[in-house]
Parts: sequence; C-alpha cells; structure tokens
Amino acid sequence: MDDITWHIEPTSKCTLECPLCDRTWFYNTFKKRLLHEIDVDPLVQFFYGHKPKINMCGNNGDPIYHSDFHNLVQKLKGIGSTIKITTNGSARKKEWWNDLGDILDSDDQITFSIDGLRDTNHIYRKNANWDSIMDGVESIKNKKVRIVWKFIVFKHNQHQIDDAMTVSKEKGFDEFRLEKSDRWMDNQDLMPSSQYVNDHYQHSQKVLGSKDYKTKIEPNCLIKDKPSNELYIDAEGNFFPCCWIGSYRYKFKSLFDPKLRRYNIHDNTAKTILENSEVKNFFMQTKSFDSAHECCKIKCGVKNA
Ligand SMILES: C[S@@+](CC[C@H](N)C(=O)[O-])C[C@H]1O[C@@H](n2cnc3c(N)ncnc32)[C@H](O)[C@@H]1O
Ligand code: SF4
Ligand code: SF4
Repeated sequence: MDDITWHIEPTSKCTLECPLCDRTWFYNTFKKRLLHEIDVDPLVQFFYGHKPKINMCGNNGDPIYHSDFHNLVQKLKGIGSTIKITTNGSARKKEWWNDLGDILDSDDQITFSIDGLRDTNHIYRKNANWDSIMDGVESIKNKKVRIVWKFIVFKHNQHQIDDAMTVSKEKGFDEFRLEKSDRWMDNQDLMPSSQYVNDHYQHSQKVLGSKDYKTKIEPNCLIKDKPSNELYIDAEGNFFPCCWIGSYRYKFKSLFDPKLRRYNIHDNTAKTILENSEVKNFFMQTKSFDSAHECCKIKCGVKNA
C-alpha cells in the first residue's frame, strides 16, 4: 500500500477562472460554484497504517485555498506522507508560504502552474496575480521543498518559452517543465503551433465518434497490474479510480457514483476499498479495451496502436 500514489483534491475552491478548467465549465453550465473542502481527520484516518504518496491537485479547485491547509499538510506529514502540491500560486501572503515551507521537506514538491510571464500568464490564468505568485516563490525558494515551474503552452505564450526558462532560474526554481495540453476537443481558440500540442484529443474524438473503433489500452492507474497510480479522492471525500472517472462527465456513470455513497473516505479505509471485489473487478476490466469503461477507452486507449 505504501507504493500507491494518491491524487487528492483538497478543495473545489479557486480564485481563478481558467477557460478550459472543469470548474469554469461547471460554473458556465450551472451558474453555481463548487466550494467543498476535504475533511482533514477522516482523510488521515483513511490512510491509517500507511505512508501515502500524495499529489494534491484536483479537477475543480486549487489546493492552497483549503481554509485549514497547513493543518491538512501537517497531519499528513505526521503519518509519513510525501506531498506534491500543484497550484496557480495566487492570493496567499508571504507568511502563509513561509509557514507552509516550514512543514514540507526535501521529499516534497510544489508545482506552480504559470503559463507565461507577467504580461501573459493571466490570459489563460484569469484573475492570477503575478506579484503574489512571485511573493510566494520568494518566500519558499530557500526552504527544503523542491519548486517547479509548469508552463502550459498556448498561442499567446509560445514565444516566451525561453525567456520563462531564464526567469525560472533567476527566481530560484529547481525545475522548469513545459506541458503540451491535450484539451482541444471542444475549443481550439488558444491552441499553439502543432509542435506544442498533445494530439491525444484526436484519439478521444475517434472513440466518441465510432462504436467500432478499437485500439490497445494502457491503464494509467495500474502498475504491474495493481491499482497503484494516481487513485483519486475528491474534495467531498469520494474515491474514484482516477480523476478522469471523477470528472463531472463520468462521476455519476460508474459504480463510484457519489450518490450511492459506497466509496467515501468517511465510511472506508484505503484497504477496504481496494479489497472490495467490485472495485477489483473494475480495475481488472480496464486491462482490455473491449471491457473497459468508456472513460478508460478515451483516456487510456493508445493512439495509433
Ligand atoms: C484543476 S487544476 C488544479 C490545480 C491548480 N488549480 C492548477 O491549476 O495548477 C488541475 C491541473 O489541470 C491543469 N490545467 C489547467 N488547464 C489546463 C489545460 N488547458 N490544459 C492542460 N492542463 C491544464 C492545471 O495546470 C493543473 O495541473
Ligand atoms: S487555477 Fe486550477 S483550479 Fe483554478 S481555475 Fe485554473 S485550472 Fe481550475
Ligand atoms: S481512465 Fe480508466 S484506465 Fe485510465 S487511469 Fe482512469 S480508471 Fe484507469
């Protein structure tokens, strides 16, 4: 169990409105904001007896807006977790970052999602505040935790890649990571040149377009056939095999439907869920394209196999 990586959504709150984020889609569709926060003690109990590897990110929110974030991180560190945090980095004060830096250690990592420079980051990262992000970086760069600059390439920032890499070194980042987005299925307004596009979305279009389309499948959730990679818990404490099954499009369309409330951290431990025969069966079915869930065919089907 200690080998499992968990993807946790600490909160579905965020101060930004990135156009291709599920959170923005949810607001545009239902005119409602998601505002959940994970319950700290039930989450720690859920992992009882294990030392989980945790990626804090989420489908709908930004980890740093959990109102009791330091307590969450401190308690998870207290059971021996390693923690990676992905954040837009805006709107927290220097002291807040300083205190976070004192809790994390050299096994941990913070990834700042900064898609451009001062004059462009906010074009996709709507409402992002450059100065507050840089205050955060300044406060944490000399702590033990590793810091990474993740740069998603868009049409409006692709000319700044080299400059951003230089700035990342000047600012004290340990790593600069370029990311090619694959979120181009419904909207290509911000699409960069083809060398910066992950064209997996074309495979997704094929799966959705034809019931006869077949390919190989390589389940991202399995390592050596065991559910071990990026198993997902959302801000309401619901377990899903991965964040894609936990996205609004699919969350109500499998045995993990939160309305059934069978796999919530409040009523289970990691062990009871992973030993459940229906859950085991779900993971087994992901191994073949024919038996896999539609979401698995789209996300883990291999393009051009
Ligand atoms: C909902 S966000 C949660 C974490 C945090 N709020 C953030 O944005 O970094 C989940 C992940 O989606 C990424 N993301 C957002 N928009 C994206 C896009 N258009 N293409 C690819 N990844 C994107 C974020 O950078 C982050 O790694
Ligand atoms: S910062 Fe993250 S959670 Fe917030 S709107 Fe952007 S992608 Fe979504
Ligand atoms: S989409 Fe399916 S196969 Fe892929 S990681 Fe998620 S549960 Fe596993």
